[in-house]
Amino acid sequence: MTQRNPMIGKVIAIDGPAGAGKGTLATSLAREYRMKYLDTGTLYRTVAYKVLRAGGDPAREEDALKACDLSDYDFKHMGNNKFCVLLDGEDVMSELRTQSVGQGASKVAFYTSVRSALKQFQIEFAEKWASQYGVILDGRDIGTVICPDADYKFFIDADPEVRAHRRIEELKSRGHQANFEETLSEILERDARDRGRKDAPLKPAGDAYVVDTSHKNALQVLQMVMDYISMPVAKV
Ligand code: DC
Repeated sequence: MTQRNPMIGKVIAIDGPAGAGKGTLATSLAREYRMKYLDTGTLYRTVAYKVLRAGGDPAREEDALKACDLSDYDFKHMGNNKFCVLLDGEDVMSELRTQSVGQGASKVAFYTSVRSALKQFQIEFAEKWASQYGVILDGRDIGTVICPDADYKFFIDADPEVRAHRRIEELKSRGHQANFEETLSEILERDARDRGRKDAPLKPAGDAYVVDTSHKNALQVLQMVMDYISMPVAKV
């Protein structure tokens, strides 16, 4: 007899700064629980990428807002729960992962107009998939703004130096070199912008379970979070 997936109908919200391990955790949870996963940073990165491609400035609200029409893009779920962004049929995921697009994403994300243009997509995604599979969203404001009623909320954090090392390793694995000091200062700059903005700043929801991943590997973090989810009192 097949067992009903206990996470059907559930929403998991994961927030935290760049490089803390949100994506790794969300991907593993999605696999473990057979849930659908949306990395919402991809949306902000897509907007920034579009601005940069058009020769615009992500820090200018007018340019950022012009790029908010996500219908030019195709957001696809590949079979293995990998999310893919296609522009004119071409996979642009690796372009979206660059440092400059990450910085640009943090700049466009500053504007309330941009945040509200992207909000509906995220809410619709959560509603559409939660009832069939259960859904995981990660970003900066999932537990506070996008899914304030999420069943489980996690805030994943780590020391900036640790996050810088992880970022360098990630870049290396894709054949890029990066300098530690520069990477660290980019992380600190992005943190300050994401935490300091007026609208939906990066901060733990009052009812989030905060996990510091500085001295933990991905498997230990996954285990902690799954243990928390399986506790009878875990529902926030
Ligand atoms: O998670 P990421 O590094 O791909 O996100 C890129 C930027 O997008 C991040 O610096 C801030 C912004 N962002 C946001 O403001 N809100 C979200 N829910 C997700 C990302």
